[in-house]
Amino acid sequence: MTSIALAARTVLLTADARAKAAASRAMAAAWGAGAIDLAFDVAMPDAPARPSRPELLPPNRMPKRGRAGSPRSRFALLHAVAHIELNAIDLAWDIVGRFGGGLPRAFVDDWVRVADDEARHFLLIDDRLAELGGGYGDLGAHDGLWQASAATAHDLPARLAVVPQVLEARGLDVTPTMTARLRAAGDDRSADILEVIYRDEITHVAAGNRWFRWACDSNGSSPAETFRALVSTHFRGELKPPFNDLARLQAGLSPDFYRPLATDDAA
Ligand SMILES: [Fe+2]
Ligand SMILES: [Fe+2]
Repeated sequence: MTSIALAARTVLLTADARAKAAASRAMAAAWGAGAIDLAFDVAMPDAPARPSRPELLPPNRMPKRGRAGSPRSRFALLHAVAHIELNAIDLAWDIVGRFGGGLPRAFVDDWVRVADDEARHFLLIDDRLAELGGGYGDLGAHDGLWQASAATAHDLPARLAVVPQVLEARGLDVTPTMTARLRAAGDDRSADILEVIYRDEITHVAAGNRWFRWACDSNGSSPAETFRALVSTHFRGELKPPFNDLARLQAGLSPDFYRPLATDDAA
C-alpha cells in the first residue's frame, strides 16, 4: 500500500497544473477510502514541481489588470486566483507530508481534505478561464507564494501561523469585494465560483487555527501571543486592514491574534 508521505510527494512533484489537481483529488479519494497507509517513509521535496507556464514574476512586474469589470480584468483576476489555488494544493500536501508524522490521524484527515478542496477550486477556475477563451498559464504570475512555506519548513506552529492564518485569512478579507465586482460586471458564473471558494476557505483557516491552538496547548503557550511572535519572525509581508473580522472569527481567529500586527489603516 502507498504511504501518505509518498502520496503527498507525488502530488508535489507533478508539474502540469491540471495533472497536479487531478492527482490531489485522486490521492484524497484514496485516503478517504482507506487505501493509503498512515506512514511517513519519504521526505518532501524542497520545492514543488511547476508547469513551464505561467512565467513567474516579482510582484512589481505583475501584468496590469485593465479597466475594472472589463473582460480582460476579470480574466486576470481569475488567473491570479487559479495561481493561488495551485500553490494551495502544494502547501496543503506539504503540511501533510512534512508535519503529519507523529500527529493524530485527524491532522492528516483535515489537510488532505484541504488539499482536495484546493484542487477542486483550481479546476473550477481553470474551467472558467477556458470558457472565457484561455487558461491557466496565459498570464504571468506571482513568484512569492512558496517562500512562506520554505521559511517555515522547520516548525509546524510557524507554518500554521503564516500559511492558513495569515495568507488564507487574507483571502477571506478580499474575496467578498472581488465577488461583488464580478457580479456588478454581470459575471455571475465567476462570482458563484468565488462564493464556493470563500465558504471552503473559512474551513481552511479554521483547520489552521484549530491545529495551531492544539500545538500551543500541548506546550502550554498562549495562542495569540505565540501567533504574533511567529508572524513577526517568519512573515515578510504586511497585515493590511480592512479585515473581515466576522469570517476570521468564524474560523477561530480572534482580533487579538492579528490586530496588534496590523499596518496603519489609511482610512
Ligand atoms: Fe482554495
Ligand atoms: Fe485554502
